[in-house]
Amino acid sequence: SSKISSRYRCSSCDFVSLTLVGRCPSCGAWGTMEKEEILPVSSAASADPTPEAVTLDQVVPEERISSGLEDLDLVLGGGWLPGGVVLLGGEPGVGKSTLLLQSCAAVAASGGRVMYVSGEETASQIAMRARRLGLDASENLKILVCQDVLKAVAAAEDFKCQFLVLDSVQALRHPEATGWPGSPNQVRAVAENVIGFAKRTMASAVMIGHITKQGAIAGPKVLEHLVDVVLLFFGERTSRNRLLRAEKNRFGSTDELGIFEMGEAGLRPVLDPSALFWGDEDGVSGVAMGVSMEGSRPILSEIQALVSQSPFPYPKRASKGVELNRLQLMLAVMDRRCGISLRTSDVYLNVAGGLTLQDPAVDLAVFMSLLSAAKDVPLDLKTCFIGEVGLAGEVRPVPRLANRIREAERFGCNRFFVSYKGAKEIASGGIIPIKNVREAAD
Ligand code: TYD
Ligand code: MG
Repeated sequence: SSKISSRYRCSSCDFVSLTLVGRCPSCGAWGTMEKEEILPVSSAASADPTPEAVTLDQVVPEERISSGLEDLDLVLGGGWLPGGVVLLGGEPGVGKSTLLLQSCAAVAASGGRVMYVSGEETASQIAMRARRLGLDASENLKILVCQDVLKAVAAAEDFKCQFLVLDSVQALRHPEATGWPGSPNQVRAVAENVIGFAKRTMASAVMIGHITKQGAIAGPKVLEHLVDVVLLFFGERTSRNRLLRAEKNRFGSTDELGIFEMGEAGLRPVLDPSALFWGDEDGVSGVAMGVSMEGSRPILSEIQALVSQSPFPYPKRASKGVELNRLQLMLAVMDRRCGISLRTSDVYLNVAGGLTLQDPAVDLAVFMSLLSAAKDVPLDLKTCFIGEVGLAGEVRPVPRLANRIREAERFGCNRFFVSYKGAKEIASGGIIPIKNVREAAD
């Protein structure tokens, strides 16, 4: 039937209710219930025969399609996956269209049939970008300027498209769904059609999504549940470095970090990432070197701390690149285990190069940068601090210590403060085994 029924979905937690309520019964947020339509299923989908159950040995795993960009493949877990749908989020201007146009050209050059659908730019703008990127025209790569998702999907199906890009999910619309393009209802309807297309034809699809100032992908949360992979592309305004991370990945890890540089001719992989994330602030207090694992790659990172007498009754603690909780924990450990209190000081922490570190192995470097700042004594930047710090002030061993040390050695580091546990297994010279932060401080 063509009867359109509706329901209400909470935009913050995804709870579904059949009646409109002012407050979400699940997460308690007010005014977040949004009406959504349950669209009639399209004839193509309803004509599907009854699905057939198979044994595992009857299934041949799909082969991934290389994206043509090494770091993009790394973050995806080996390339684009046939039948899989990816959402690529990022702020305007970060380089999402550039990244995907480059990948489109690479997939087309290796024989794949590719369609790039743009609802935002004209064909001539896209052609100009392609020229700037030095990409060749090819029968395998079609550009379609269109804002109707049904037409876009039909065109892709006609073309027997194997790799479809939608730029962007907010710019396209479903003719039967209500709301402006970009509204939750529209975004969901657009996404469902793209996902339906990918599953039906075993094409791989990517949708670009704009993100809000708060860093969330604009549109309903449900979008992130619907897709297989959510990628986030980001970078600092002032730098050419661009980082790519998977927020969700049904087919691979979410640990890998892709690192690119935006140049005159588009995005290039950065061959030596560690070189990006540290400067040469030799002789300045508050700077300590650590090594963080980003997925399978060790990256030398510079932690910077600034401590100053606070004019406020409640001193300020600000942290960029390291979780604020970890900073507070390190301050508490320093207070209780080393007797150095920063209770009346403002404390600022920063990771050079805009990197966000989740690896607890940088605890010791954070601790030492704070200590160096508090005492106003500069540290030797050829010395690396590698270890997790526990509540008792103990320095704990970290995984892949040998890898981390090798990476730091490449950049001239020659002394390594590490947990005494596991230190014996390391062949490198310059190892200083320690039990706790007091020993490191001494
Ligand atoms: P774009 O891919 O349009 O970003 P998004 O789709 O995320 O909004 O690229 C944005 C910026 O990148 C733009 O300001 C110009 C710059 N740029 C380069 O520096 N080099 C290039 O080769 C290209 C194509 C763009
Ligand atoms: Mg764009």
